[in-house]
Amino acid sequence: MSGDYQLVQLSNGAKTLFSASYGEKMHPGLGPQAEAELLYVRQLNLCERLQKSTGEFVVWDVGLGGAANALTALRALREIPGELRLISFDNTAEPLEFAAANSGQLKYPAGYETQLAELLQTGRVAFLNGRLKVEWQFVLADFPGWLAAHVKSDTISENRLRLPAPDAIFYDAFSPAKNPAMWTLPVFRKLFAALEPAKPCALTTYSRSTLIRSTLLLAGFYVGAGHATGMKEETTIAANKSELIAEPLGMRWLERAMRSDSAEPLPEAACVRKPLSPDTARALENHRQFAGKPAI
Ligand SMILES: C[S@@+](CC[C@H](N)C(=O)[O-])C[C@H]1O[C@@H](n2cnc3c(N)ncnc32)[C@H](O)[C@@H]1O
Repeated sequence: MSGDYQLVQLSNGAKTLFSASYGEKMHPGLGPQAEAELLYVRQLNLCERLQKSTGEFVVWDVGLGGAANALTALRALREIPGELRLISFDNTAEPLEFAAANSGQLKYPAGYETQLAELLQTGRVAFLNGRLKVEWQFVLADFPGWLAAHVKSDTISENRLRLPAPDAIFYDAFSPAKNPAMWTLPVFRKLFAALEPAKPCALTTYSRSTLIRSTLLLAGFYVGAGHATGMKEETTIAANKSELIAEPLGMRWLERAMRSDSAEPLPEAACVRKPLSPDTARALENHRQFAGKPAI
């Protein structure tokens, strides 16, 4: 281990991981378990969607980190008799090793220590989680690079993915200021192209920034306001089917985006804040989420 990670205590007493190299905490608001539960498990309606699913339900866990999102989901889905394929991505195993080694203090890994050890050792683990059959895989790779290698164009027909397309995505990278490579428009275009058009898929993330929302829209997603989680009064949900979004962004959001000084998607891995370019503004106005709606 390089020693990048340390434990920190939040004001509500929960402990979480802090990365010295990014200068950021994971789940800094309510702590790992509470935030994962609200932002990813409940907001994505995971229990209901898994219950209704007839085959394997596939979750892409982007930014595995210390596995708080993954383990909170596993705990919430235990009593559902179904099949879950959990595919976690990270470019380092260090936070997971750190979380496994500090299970007692973090609390949320409790009961999953053997699965974490096998995942770390072999990159995959299959087990029965209560009544749920789980196959958990860890793709140790740079996510943008992995997408670029496996999604050869921005159209689904030319994808060469060896992994099943997701039904749900946890998108939990560090912030665009510290981790811009994970928030560029090309990354989200590839991610959208990796979805199966006929398979409804929803993604949640903690950010509510105009820049991230315009990026998701331009990549092809429908986008809506997401639940509050402690420090954030709103988060974001995106999906390839509008019916998965309870509160879609409307014309009021678009008007504000047009006036914002930080709304233009990042074309590359550098966090530069700019207002929308005329081309982007036009593309947003013509997006199927807004097209035909009266201006405010
Ligand atoms: C906020 S933390 C994730 C917390 C995690 N979801 C959890 O529940 O514990 C962000 C994670 O994104 C990972 N990450 C950053 N850049 C990445 C990249 N280029 N490819 C894949 N993962 C990356 C970091 O290593 C870190 O573990």
